[in-house]
Amino acid sequence: MTTRRDLLRLFVGTAGCAILSACTGVDGLPAVPTGPGDTFSFPQGVASADPQVDGFILWTRVAGAEGDVDLMVEIAEDADFATVLTRKAVTAPAQYLNTVRVLVTDLPSGQWFHYRFIAPDGSVSRTGRTRTAPDAASEKPANIAVFSCQNYEQGYFSAYRAMMEEDAAARPERKVDLVLHVGDFVYENVREEDTKGWHDLNWNDPRLMNADGSLRRVGGYPSGGQPGAFDYKGPKTLEDYRHLYLAYLSDPDLQAARAAYPFVQTWDDHEIYNDVWQSFTEDRSIDELRLAGNQAWFEFVPAALSLSDAGSDHHAHDFVPAEAAAMPAEPVGEDFLIENDGNLAAIGSLTIYRSLRWGCLFELFLVDGRSYRGPPPDVPAFRMARIMARQFATLPTELIAELDAGRTANGGAPREKLSYLGVEFDNPRRDLPANSMLGGRQRDWLLGRLEASDAQWKLLGLNVGLMRHAFDDSFSPKGQKNGLYWLDGWDGFPGERTQLTTAFRARGFGNLVSLTGDRHMHMAGYVFEDFDSSDQRPVAVEFCGAAISAPNRLAIMAGITRRDPSYAGYFFHQGNPEVGENLIRPSMDQLMLHGHESARLCSEGAPAEDMLGAADPAVNPHLQYVDSDAFGYMIAHVTPGDVEVQQVTIAEPVSLPGEAVPILRRVALSVAAWVGNEQPDLRTVQASGADVDLKLK
Ligand SMILES: [Fe+2]
Repeated sequence: MTTRRDLLRLFVGTAGCAILSACTGVDGLPAVPTGPGDTFSFPQGVASADPQVDGFILWTRVAGAEGDVDLMVEIAEDADFATVLTRKAVTAPAQYLNTVRVLVTDLPSGQWFHYRFIAPDGSVSRTGRTRTAPDAASEKPANIAVFSCQNYEQGYFSAYRAMMEEDAAARPERKVDLVLHVGDFVYENVREEDTKGWHDLNWNDPRLMNADGSLRRVGGYPSGGQPGAFDYKGPKTLEDYRHLYLAYLSDPDLQAARAAYPFVQTWDDHEIYNDVWQSFTEDRSIDELRLAGNQAWFEFVPAALSLSDAGSDHHAHDFVPAEAAAMPAEPVGEDFLIENDGNLAAIGSLTIYRSLRWGCLFELFLVDGRSYRGPPPDVPAFRMARIMARQFATLPTELIAELDAGRTANGGAPREKLSYLGVEFDNPRRDLPANSMLGGRQRDWLLGRLEASDAQWKLLGLNVGLMRHAFDDSFSPKGQKNGLYWLDGWDGFPGERTQLTTAFRARGFGNLVSLTGDRHMHMAGYVFEDFDSSDQRPVAVEFCGAAISAPNRLAIMAGITRRDPSYAGYFFHQGNPEVGENLIRPSMDQLMLHGHESARLCSEGAPAEDMLGAADPAVNPHLQYVDSDAFGYMIAHVTPGDVEVQQVTIAEPVSLPGEAVPILRRVALSVAAWVGNEQPDLRTVQASGADVDLKLK
């Protein structure tokens, strides 16, 4: 592992003359190795990450040797490397599968550079392009492309291709400066060769092929894997996780995007295991997977973690190897931290929460909502109650709040018995601490840094969004208007969410914009200080971007609700192709925006004015835009005066790399800067494409 000190030795000592060499040519720089170039190669391309005011992180992986490999890295202003600014030696250690992370410093701020790696035999990597952050006083507008949820087996990474095609034609002030990836960079649950996948509403398996004619599958894990989430194969060893990243990084669109822009990443669950919390799934320790997944993320996802010594409250650090211990989920400490050595070593092996400063314009906070969270309050009794009631039912917010609060519920007097759908059960949380998504240390860091930041905008890069995602199932006898369904996101952690939003308001944070993913659908709206209060006061705005290629939310809900056709119409209506109908109407958008009556009308093909006429304003009042039948990405255009986020819906990602990607919809909402006790006001500034009016409130 290369420490910051080593890197400073590599770069800082020569930085002055390295920059000077821009004028004097490459004299004084080490000679470039030359040779036949047939031993080494760079099959996963290059990448860069986390622009700093004077530098960035560069990454590659070199193949072709058993041991450590000494590489040269060159940085130039021009793509032809006619003017090399610096050339330095770096080692790609075998310990990390010959991946290398290089922190380059002492470059001028606010500029683009080109870089490449050269192997000992003269082999040269593809050329990458990256940039430094602007200087501290800069207010120059910036553009952030936001991505999430790329499932290699279930679609091509066309979203990157669409973004790059649009960016090539964009006006200079709209060109993308960095890519924010908010998680599910890989999916650990992979298919066997012959298992059917599901992609669209008919659960069709597109059997996607690669350009070389091979089936687009991750393929067998080296260890043979183990039974994973959703009956798919899961990884077992570090070699398995490495195999996963190598398959993903074979994708030409992903390689091209990583070579063309600096990436800034946090993770969600699938980098490790579906619904992972700390180093557990449900109550089973998976700390061997947490350690292996953490190491593989460190190896393949560059990030400026080793800047930890730059600030006392910046805890991020590079991977620290540890032994797996597989200890039970106890003892449970404050903020639901499992305080045993096995868990603490596993989650402590890599710390990725950090912030990134972009001049005066914004500070971007990369939040880790996975490594320190407690288990969601999705207790087994819910499942039993639903089976007995024969009902696909939502959960009352008060019940979730009570479970979430643990022993602090009802002023420290939690009830012994709870009930749901008429089924009574023991309160499993009554002796446990209040739950946490962030953990105490990260929460203190986040609130402290938000308060200390003097940047105009505070952008949150969240693996799961803060907005409530309620369902109106009040058409059923025991349903409710704003019932909860997804407890793996912030809806399952309402106590800490309110703690954050109350602090946002009490400390007068304005200009707070959350950029997130995870839901596999586009959504835009407000984060309320208290979603249960009648005085619904927005304290932030949130933009949730659709998935790159993981199944979209409509397809997932279609799969779930198909088992109960009477319910399915509230989510979608599918025409019968045998009588010439082929239309799929995503009534789920209406369900979330306007409630069950609008959804029912939508599924029956009623005119738009009827749907709007039946709208219930009490359902998800914070949501302004919902597109559940979406794949795509977002572009945040940040200026001192406002933040405009364009949510781009692309066609189903089944077009081969190299083919054009149709854009189906484009919606942009903008929020003007607000301070102190003012409230944010979202305005629609662009809306085009099929059925777009039905998706906007
Ligand atoms: Fe996902």
